[in-house]
Amino acid sequence: MSTVKVTKICCIGAGYVGGPTCAVIALRCPHVQVTIVDLNKARIDAWNSPDFKLPIYEPGLEDVVRKARDRNLFFSTDVDKGIQDADLIFVSVNTPTKKSGVGAGFAADLNYVELATRRIAAVATSNKIVVEKSTVPCRTAESMRTILEANSKPNCRFDILSNPEFLAEGTAISDLFKPDRVLIGSLQTLEGKAACSALAEVYANWVPADRILTVGLWSSELSKLAANAMLAQRISSINALSAICEATGANIDEVAHAVGFDSRVGPKFLRASVGFGGSCFQKDILNLVYLSESLHLPEVAEYWKQVVVMNEYQKRRFSKTVVDTLFNTITGKRIAVLGFAFKADTGDTRESPAITLIRDFQSEKALINVYDPQVEHEQIWADLTEASPSTPLASIQKQVSICSSALEACKNAEAVVIATEWKEFRDIDWEQVYKGMNKPAFVFDGRLLVDADKLRKIGFKVNTIGRGERM
Ligand code: UDX
Ligand code: ADP
Repeated sequence: MSTVKVTKICCIGAGYVGGPTCAVIALRCPHVQVTIVDLNKARIDAWNSPDFKLPIYEPGLEDVVRKARDRNLFFSTDVDKGIQDADLIFVSVNTPTKKSGVGAGFAADLNYVELATRRIAAVATSNKIVVEKSTVPCRTAESMRTILEANSKPNCRFDILSNPEFLAEGTAISDLFKPDRVLIGSLQTLEGKAACSALAEVYANWVPADRILTVGLWSSELSKLAANAMLAQRISSINALSAICEATGANIDEVAHAVGFDSRVGPKFLRASVGFGGSCFQKDILNLVYLSESLHLPEVAEYWKQVVVMNEYQKRRFSKTVVDTLFNTITGKRIAVLGFAFKADTGDTRESPAITLIRDFQSEKALINVYDPQVEHEQIWADLTEASPSTPLASIQKQVSICSSALEACKNAEAVVIATEWKEFRDIDWEQVYKGMNKPAFVFDGRLLVDADKLRKIGFKVNTIGRGERM
């Protein structure tokens, strides 16, 4: 079986994963034509916008799109043509957690993957390599293959690969330029291995050969869930320890530093926080929980579930600290929440801990000023409405205001809550912030961001996650 030379790639789904990934493939492989298609016209229009107002914020992305767009990178709503023209198709559609039916709240909703797969089968007229890019439960490739084979035209063969994406938001472009590894899973048949080589050759244009790992299809699918579960577990572990630090007077930064110095543990991803967010960690762990339960492994399911339980506890614990510290009531008090994105350098708010904090402050009848340098205002309203479905937006807006700077958000507030580690929050004029606040002025640092001693010298009472020191 000879290896197909990939010259035309189609990516179905122009979101956070498909957009940056395929833009970088186009940049690094000028001889390959890359077309990213999506049903969402507004999204495609934004990718094509003349002034490069792209639909997602990601450092370095605009530069990549400027270099490759209309050269060998195209964005289109013509999904069928994209499929027909391509030798290789990435399926990069959304796989949210199911909201109803069997597995609701845990299992992945594979409806979008299935619809995209059915579309490929319906319109393809030549052989295709179909690549799962979206994070999917183990053995989804088998369902895709069954659908493709049952609906394909004669003389049209499909090879399925799994090629999960490990990029992190905020560093997507550098992650894609220099990935720790590229993982490709295939069936261990001659055809499967040939398809795997074809995709590996695309990445070999810029990724060193020893970083391209080829494994079986099911291992590849499971590795993505496993990597995210283990990363999230590290955060829940350090956050669990942060609670012990606060109770004992230990300092979580020092503990993390000491533990991370052990080369077997390593220093990365040990930063205590108000809790992890993002579109992947919670979703993938719940997926793993569901998978374990389906496989009749209840102890395994329970083990992974604790990672999410701890994360919820951490968010609740933090908002309770705010209420307890402000003399057990925040009713009518103004709280400035700095940051709404789930982490710095992204405008993404999916599962952001800020949403939970603000909802908790709302239920305590506080007044909340929010500021985030990247998140669109409509997104903040949409997230807060979704978090409190029985409260009309007009009522939410009586309690919550969106501000256009950190300084404005902190004006006349009793407390500042740092929910996202945007660098600009470390560097704001804290003297000025202090002058504008009611006294005593409190700062609650949920991201280990600010210099607590410096702020205390100004006059603030500072509470930092994972530090048991006196305010
Ligand atoms: C994650 C994985 O890192 C990535 O490999 C995968 O492809 C997608 O999921 P992402 O969700 O974009 O990426 O961001 P990540 O940097 O992993 O952060 C996730 C959450 O954990 C954020 O809310 C972040 O603030 C939090 N976090 C991260 C901590 O609280 N402490 C840390 O030490 C690291
Ligand atoms: P991710 O973070 O996984 O990239 P997003 O929600 O950002 O997820 O993006 C997924 C994209 O996939 C959305 O823009 C959605 O419109 C698109 N999409 C979903 N189903 C299809 C489909 N059948 N055909 C084309 N695009 C699709």
